[in-house]
Amino acid sequence: MKVTIIGAGNVGSTCASLLSQKDLVREIVLLDIKDKISEGKSLDISQMNAISCSNTILTGSTNDFSKSKNSDVIIITCGVTRKPGMNREDLVHINADIIRSVTKQSISLSPEAKFIIVSNPLDIMSYVSYITAKVNSSHVIGMAGILDTARYRYFLSKKLNISSYDIRSILLGGHGETMIPLYRYTSISGIPIHNFLSEKDHDIIIKKTKKGGEEIVNYLGTSAWMAPAASIVEMVESILKNSRRIFSCSALLKGEYNIENVYMGVPVILGKHGIEKIIELELNENEKILLKKSSNYIKSIIRKL
Ligand code: LAC
Repeated sequence: MKVTIIGAGNVGSTCASLLSQKDLVREIVLLDIKDKISEGKSLDISQMNAISCSNTILTGSTNDFSKSKNSDVIIITCGVTRKPGMNREDLVHINADIIRSVTKQSISLSPEAKFIIVSNPLDIMSYVSYITAKVNSSHVIGMAGILDTARYRYFLSKKLNISSYDIRSILLGGHGETMIPLYRYTSISGIPIHNFLSEKDHDIIIKKTKKGGEEIVNYLGTSAWMAPAASIVEMVESILKNSRRIFSCSALLKGEYNIENVYMGVPVILGKHGIEKIIELELNENEKILLKKSSNYIKSIIRKL
């Protein structure tokens, strides 16, 4: 198995490191446009692998896409990250050009690869990559839902003083202010959330989750990378092992939830073909309205492109 990570910044290199520790793939190619960054980080991770008994081989390269040939999974993390005071949408034009370019350069060398898009604004960049790659939309998947759900689970666990690991949930909508954590679809070890928390208290958790990325940007001056990288690894593992796990991912909707031609967060089954199935949940009126609002917002940004 071979995975290429485009962008050796915080997210890309942490992802390479976490993925190596799993000893899941034979080869990871780390690419970056910045001179020698990928080479240096690959070497560092390779030497860590000697300590952690991983057999994954790291290849770092400055912009040589031929190294990515025949990848099973390609992870796009490159582009500009937001700074304090910016929202993800402020990055749309600059990152769209970058995503188009790297998708074009990699798709011809690995036509069967599953693409995981991480660059922001996530739902729009997933769409840009899909349009550029001209492949089945099940092969282009945006990473956001696992990350947003992880933040939601963390905030719930703090509030309830319960292990975040046992909290399960599904989140819909865009990666940003319009995301929709679902109270009705949250449980703790199978026990519905309403046994632990009122809907009113849950609203506070939703607000915190929506601001989860921004909170970290304000501390660090740049976007988070640890939880994003761990989220990518979950997706890669489910695809490569064909585990068919269910996650919220950004997927192209073709009429599901009565929405068309937009990438946004929905529950999917992830397996060897990428998105094996989009799961349509029964939504109440309020949830339907919020979802429509989220899709309209994403579409309005796509139109600007
Ligand atoms: C975040 C970035 C990765 O939410 O979008 O932290």
